Parts: sequence; structure tokens; C-alpha cells
Amino acid sequence: MAPQVKYTKLFIDNKWVDAKSGKTFPTINPHDGSVNAKVAEGDKADIDAAVSAAKKAFHRNSPWRLMNASERAKLINKFVDLIERDFDYLSELETLDNGTLCRTRQMFISMAISSARYIASLADKVEGATTSADGEVFSYTLKQPVGVCGLILPWNGPIFIFLAKVVTALAAGCTVVVKPAEQTPLTALVLAALSLEASFPPGVLNVVNGFGPTAGAALASHPDVAKISFTGSVEVGKLIQQASGASNLKRVTLELGGKSPLIIMDDANLDIAVPYAAHGIFANQGQVCVAASRLYVHAKIYDKFVEKAVEMAKTLKIGNPMDPESHHGPQVDEDMFKKVLGYIEKGKKEGARLLTGGKRVGNTGYYIEPTVFADVTDNMTIAKEEIFGPVQSILKFDSVDDVLERANNTTYGLAAGIFTTSLDTALQFSKHLEAGVVWVNTYLHMSPQAPFGGFKQSGLGREMGPKALEAYLEEKSVYINLPKKFGN
Ligand code: NAI
Ligand code: MG
Repeated sequence: MAPQVKYTKLFIDNKWVDAKSGKTFPTINPHDGSVNAKVAEGDKADIDAAVSAAKKAFHRNSPWRLMNASERAKLINKFVDLIERDFDYLSELETLDNGTLCRTRQMFISMAISSARYIASLADKVEGATTSADGEVFSYTLKQPVGVCGLILPWNGPIFIFLAKVVTALAAGCTVVVKPAEQTPLTALVLAALSLEASFPPGVLNVVNGFGPTAGAALASHPDVAKISFTGSVEVGKLIQQASGASNLKRVTLELGGKSPLIIMDDANLDIAVPYAAHGIFANQGQVCVAASRLYVHAKIYDKFVEKAVEMAKTLKIGNPMDPESHHGPQVDEDMFKKVLGYIEKGKKEGARLLTGGKRVGNTGYYIEPTVFADVTDNMTIAKEEIFGPVQSILKFDSVDDVLERANNTTYGLAAGIFTTSLDTALQFSKHLEAGVVWVNTYLHMSPQAPFGGFKQSGLGREMGPKALEAYLEEKSVYINLPKKFGN
């Protein structure tokens, strides 16, 4: 049975409200294209109300600002306890809204929970320093929350990214207005309800659903928002940075996806390389920012690898993402479904060799077969643009210099991977690959203790890791004059 949709309104100042315009929009189940619910459609006026509540909650004498950092950490942990209590419900609702497989979302949400606990533990470890300033002064630094933060989310990991951004901002002492993706508005509302149950003070966490060019843009250009953290497309990341600059020079953190190379050397253990390469591109139907979407395989093992990769792709069981037995579910919506099929057509037209997949599955929902192309060359569209779908593109290389140049020859720089049994090769590639994360003999491994973010146009700044809170803090230097002479 489908999970019940309990919340559809906007969440502002700890209250459930309709959009000021009275408008709603449908959210669709990608499994069959049916409407899950209609949710309130926020726009500029609602963003204004939410920012105003968040600003009030950030006032120096507000309960939030007067709370000890250790108390904030406790409150976040209470919130996370409630998420754990409602894990199954949240997890099913996530699948209803974005089609994430049962097994994937459980992994995602568990990771979100451990990340949130780790980040909460940083709340009371924000430290300034005493400086050795010149002059007769006592000088020290303070690190303080930046203010109201606008958090603009994508649809590919709604709960995970909601928690990663919200918990970091709150642990730093900021207040937030969250704008979830229009494809996946439901789980953010349940998380808002849990924040209310955990007793966050009014205005600390607000959720306004709505569309990018309206609600999202209003948040990015709001003069009372001090910072935007965004995950999504490069195109919108650039718009957000422009809007931030044009309004009030907001601090900006961007995570913008990629075209990540995965390199298989001729000495690699194929028993692990083949399944990891498949996991790297087919996990979450390819809707992963770090997807291994350029698979470079050494000429010596190329034919053998391609054969095994095709076999592997064929074993994936396509089916309803609610079914724990399914390995492969639908794309998130009709737009992405058409976009991915369009890339597959381009791949064929430009001369890549389609070895398996390439077609829609069934007549309802947005299912696409796991697809493998061999003989892909660097100039083909499928080797250059982010597809965000289950399309494995296999390219051939024959020397280290050749593959390193080609791997780095992209405007992106989020992730990269290498399979080899040579320590030298592993260390050299880890050093020279231009990416925010490099995986050696593994892929997609993430951990809250390590920072995450992109080189080049894959983003700006880092999330997670021991310095995660820095992105939500301002640093201040204080000088206190001392008398030139003291005593006799
Ligand atoms: P998008 O970048 O348009 O949307 C992401 C978020 O930004 C949504 O909440 C959306 O409402 C908001 N947004 C859109 N326009 C905005 C604006 N002008 N101002 C402020 N906020 C705005 O991504 P979309 O259209 O869903 O997907 C397009 C492509 O982006 C995908 O094919 C994929 O390549 C990439 N993408 C990358 C993600 C990542 O994890 N880095 C996540 C989602 C998409
Ligand atoms: Mg878009």
C-alpha cells in the first residue's frame, strides 16, 4: 500500500499555511505517472514571509540565538531520533515521490542520519583563536553564524541533501528557508513536521515548496538572505551566483554535478572493477552527481571488459522501486525520461555502439533499460554532457598519459575513479586527477567525516567533513586596547 501523504502546505514560522496565491501543483509518482498529491505552490510572497520568520528567529535575543551550542546539538539529535523512528515511512514516501529504489533509499537515509549526527557533534566545537596582533592590544577571533540561509535542493536524494544542508546550517547557529525540488516536495514537509515535534523554536526551519524560476529565484535574490547553498545543474548554479552577487553578495556554496571519469587499468581486478563500474553508473538510475559516466578501459582488456559489463547490465532486475527485489527503477519524471532517451538517440546517431538497453520499459512510468555503449569517443555528446541516466559509455585508451589528459579534459571536476593493482599508479592518478573526490578500487563511497565538493564547474566550496560548519560561519577579529603602561 502506498504511504499516506500527510502534509501538503508550506511550513513557515512553525505553522502550516497555504500559498498566498492559493495555488497548488501536483507531484507525480514516477512508477506510473499518477498524481501523489497536490502541494502548496510557494512564490515570492511566501518566500518573503519565510525569510522574515527566519530573520526574526535569528535576532540576538531569540530563543535560538540564546541557546547554548551544546543544546543545539541535542535538539538536532532529538530531531534525528524522530527521523529514525519514522524511517520506514519517510523511506517509502521518498520512493513514492522520486522512484528511488527501496535498497538505495535505505542506504541514503541511513547515511543521512549518520551524517546528521556527525555534523551535530561539531556544533559546540566552533572555536576562534587568540592572535599575536601587533600593538598594545588583546586580539582574538570569533566565528559566528552567517544569518538566514536559503537552501535550494535537487530531487535525486531529497532526504539526504535536505539533512546535509539543514543540519549543517542549524549546527552553525543559522536559521533556514528550504526550497525543495518541485519533483520531490513531500519528504521535506515530513521533516519539517518532525522538527516541530522536536521543538525547534518558530522560524528556525521553514520549508517553501514551489518552482525554481519563481520561489527559488526569489530566495536567491532576497536581500535578507545571507547565504545560499544549492545542489543542482551548472546552469542554475550560475544563475544563483549571479542573483546572489546582484542582490547582496550572499555567500554561496554550489554542488553542480559532473561527467566523472572512471579508469580501468590493464592490471585491474575485473571481478571488482566490473560490478563497481556498473554500480557507479546504474545506482539510482544514473541520477547521481558523481555517476561514473565516462568509463575509460585499457585497450589490452577492453573487449573482455565490455563483454562482462554488458552481461552485468543485463542482470539488473527492472521493477517497481517499492519492491525490495528490484535493482532498477524509473527516472524521476517525464522531462528527465525524455532527456535521457534523447541522449541515447544522439549516442546512436554519433556512432557509438549500443550493446544493450536503449529503450523504454513498458508503457507507464518513466523506466529506461540499463544501457551500455561501447566505442564511445571523447567528442561525442554522450561523453561530454551530463546525462543523469542509466547510460554507461565505454571509451578505450592505451597509455597513462593519454587517459589522464582525456579524463581531465572536461569543464567538470566532481569525482573520478581508478581501478589498478599498482600502488604507484593509484597514487599518481589520485594526485593528478582534477576532481573533488578520487576513488581507488571502489566507487561511490561517501562518509560524513570527509569533505565533499567539486573542482572547476562542478561547484564552489565543500560540504561535510570536519570543517563543514565553516561554510555557514563568519569570522570576526576583535582588538581590545591595553594601557601602554601598567603599574609602575
Ligand atoms: P535544476 O538545477 O533546474 O534544479 C535544482 C533546484 O534548483 C530545484 O529546486 C529547482 O527548483 C531550483 N531552481 C531551478 N531554477 C532556479 C532558479 N532560476 N533560481 C533558483 N532556483 C532554481 O535541475 P533540474 O532541472 O531538475 O535537472 C537538470 C539537470 O541538472 C539534470 O539533468 C542533471 O544533469 C543536473 N542535476 C544535478 C544534480 C546534482 O546532484 N548535482 C541534481 C539535480 C540535477
Ligand atoms: Mg531545471
